[in-house]
Amino acid sequence: MKIFLDTASVADVAAAAETGLINGVTTNPSLIAKSGAKLDETIAQMCDLVDGPVSAEVVAQTAAAMIEEGKYFAQIAKNVCVKVPLTRDGLIACKTLSDSGIDVNVTLCFSPAQALLAAKAGARFISPFIGRIDDVGGIGLHLIREIIQIYDNYPNLETEILAASIRSPQHVVEAAKLGADVATIPPKLFNQMYQHPLTDKGLDQFMEDWNASGQELDLKSTSRKAS
Ligand code: E4P
Repeated sequence: MKIFLDTASVADVAAAAETGLINGVTTNPSLIAKSGAKLDETIAQMCDLVDGPVSAEVVAQTAAAMIEEGKYFAQIAKNVCVKVPLTRDGLIACKTLSDSGIDVNVTLCFSPAQALLAAKAGARFISPFIGRIDDVGGIGLHLIREIIQIYDNYPNLETEILAASIRSPQHVVEAAKLGADVATIPPKLFNQMYQHPLTDKGLDQFMEDWNASGQELDLKSTSRKAS
């Protein structure tokens, strides 16, 4: 499973990229607005930090204007992925941009019917928002399962399923068990994924025992090396 970071913070992308575990980034207008940073500059900096796709979301509402914004984003860097909302205009923009070789992430997906149309429009990614479905009493992971079932029936549909609106490490685990191609997760959750109290406790014990042993590791020693 690929992991994208869902953030508008260049510093958070830089820190996560250092692990070598981040395959891309997603942003959205709310995250950009909260960060106070300039959208196109943020995208350019993130594209330098990661090799994979960096989603830049259009803010236009009509297909023609979305296409114009999408083409503008696409010339910022070769790994820009244009993000469009799952509306009629967004699907038209997706088809046009995809046909011209620009990667598109179709966002704000809340139903399998929407996901089917996005795939037919040539989207590289479909973003089902599982946390927001849970927020209104639904089960977001069911949507992931349904989209996988549909896409699996039609191997010519190459759209990748990008589980979005992730709220916990368990969401990532369940999406991975179902077979989602990507999960995009906020930096805080990325850090939670490798943390476990038993790991910390176990490591403390190992270090205490090692320090009490009186041994020191001599990395320059040649005595154990094969001649
Ligand atoms: C994905 O691309 C979106 O930016 C994001 O996952 C939305 O998550 P939220 O529902 O936590 O705002």
